[in-house]
Amino acid sequence: MNLWAISDLHFSNRADRNMNAYGEIWVDHEEKIKARWKEAVRPADIVMIGGDLSWATSLEKAVVHLRQFNELPGRYKLLVKGNHDHWWKGREKLQAALPKGMWALQGTAMELEGQVFSGTRGWLAPNDPCSDPLDQKTFEKEMGLLKAALDQSMELGGEQKGIHLLLHFPPFTTHGQKTPFWELICRYPVKTCSYGHFHMRQEWELIPKGMVDGVHCYLTASDYIEHRPQLVAQ
Ligand SMILES: [Fe+2]
Repeated sequence: MNLWAISDLHFSNRADRNMNAYGEIWVDHEEKIKARWKEAVRPADIVMIGGDLSWATSLEKAVVHLRQFNELPGRYKLLVKGNHDHWWKGREKLQAALPKGMWALQGTAMELEGQVFSGTRGWLAPNDPCSDPLDQKTFEKEMGLLKAALDQSMELGGEQKGIHLLLHFPPFTTHGQKTPFWELICRYPVKTCSYGHFHMRQEWELIPKGMVDGVHCYLTASDYIEHRPQLVAQ
C-alpha cells in the first residue's frame, strides 16, 4: 500500500472561479490531476486530500467534485478542510454525505490498514507576517483541534505506529519559520506531515520541506507538485 497526498485541487463549477485565469500551471488543471492521479495511484493505495477541494458554495454542489475524487484510484481517501471550502459546515454532516471509502478529518484521527491518520485545517499563526489580530480566535480553535487530533491518534496506537498528519495550512509561516502548530506537532510521534495552501514561488522556496526535526514534511499544493499526487509513505 502506498500513501499519497495532494491538496488545493480547487475544482470549479463556477464561471467566476475558472482556474485557467490563475496562470499557465492552472490551465486545464482538473484534467491534469485526474490523468496524473490515474498514472500514480493503485487501487489498494490511500490518498490524503489536503483541503481547498472545491469552489462550490453548497455541500450539494461540492459532492459532485467529491464523487469525482472518489472515482479515481485508491481504496480510501482522507479529507481535511481548506480555507476556501465554505461548503464544509461540519465534519459529521459532511461524513454522512460522503461516498464509501472517503473520510473527513477535522480535529480527529482514525486507523486504516494498520496506520494512524490525523487531520485538521490549521490556520495562520500569530508569528506569520500575514496574520492579523482577527486571526487569533481561529488560531486558538485550530490549535485545540490539532491537539485533539493528535491525542486521539495516541489512543489509536500512534506511539507504536507513528502518525500521518494531514493539514491544509503549513505549520510554518509564509517566511518559512516554525509556528506554535509545529511546536505542538513535535511533542507527538508524527512521522509524516503533509500541507498545502501556499501558491507563491517565494513561499515555496522558503517553506521547510523534507526531514524537519525528525518529521518527513511534504508541500502538496497541486500547482507545486505539478498536479501529480505526492508519494508520502510506502
Ligand atoms: Fe488555502
